[in-house]
Amino acid sequence: MSKLIAGNWKMNGSLAANQALVEAIATGLAAAGPTKCAVALCAPALYLDQISRQIKALAQQNIAGAAIDLGAQDISVHASGAYTGEVSGAMLKEFGVRYAIVGHSERRQYHGESDAVVSLKAKAALAHGITPIVCVGETLEQREAGKTEEVVKRQLAAVIHDNGHCISEIVVAYEPVWAIGTGKTATPEMAQAVHAVLRAQLKAATAHPERVKILYGGSMNAANAAELLAQGDIDGGLIGGASLKAPDFLKIIAAAQ
Ligand code: PGA
Repeated sequence: MSKLIAGNWKMNGSLAANQALVEAIATGLAAAGPTKCAVALCAPALYLDQISRQIKALAQQNIAGAAIDLGAQDISVHASGAYTGEVSGAMLKEFGVRYAIVGHSERRQYHGESDAVVSLKAKAALAHGITPIVCVGETLEQREAGKTEEVVKRQLAAVIHDNGHCISEIVVAYEPVWAIGTGKTATPEMAQAVHAVLRAQLKAATAHPERVKILYGGSMNAANAAELLAQGDIDGGLIGGASLKAPDFLKIIAAAQ
């Protein structure tokens, strides 16, 4: 399966910084030549238009902009109406967004998003032809209590339950909460073990489990990416901190070849 490397910029960036980062990534991709690895940038919603225009302009100059897909970091469960502050799937689609992260642990933790809400967000994305990147992952407390498998299976089961007929269209990201932004990465073996559990769960839920990419996220960086990406069930990465530095992000993409 070809790999997917998605940058999750979180609430970082500015017009000037984004311009420089996207240009450096596209130039680096162009210099590296044809790649089988898919690349996505999940930026704050406000900047999606800026980045989409820049990518189009770069592609016109034959710089590798065309190889970069756009992603959002969230999506409303609602289609339209009185939902102050929300961004709908139709709006994202208008700006050429291909992916939407749903159920990131920061949204579960700081915005009280339940498994049910995450599942509805995945549904809203699918309804608009946007691929949801469904995040699952255990806290340190849950891991230490031996509950990792139970937690990730419960989180994924909710999404499967509501989206069963098109579950082969999602991307899953396993992101152990204790590894996010902490510099503590799951060992390749730890990550692979959880990915295998998720793969088995997907196999039971769809006739096309081979279509579903399972990404690893949590302090993936230029130094540890190759080893993580070499695991049989790790189909790519969801990269936070290291996606804000073009040289690091490019090294991770190179490791995914
Ligand atoms: P990190 O974040 O790479 O900075 O740990 C990953 C994520 O939260 O998606």
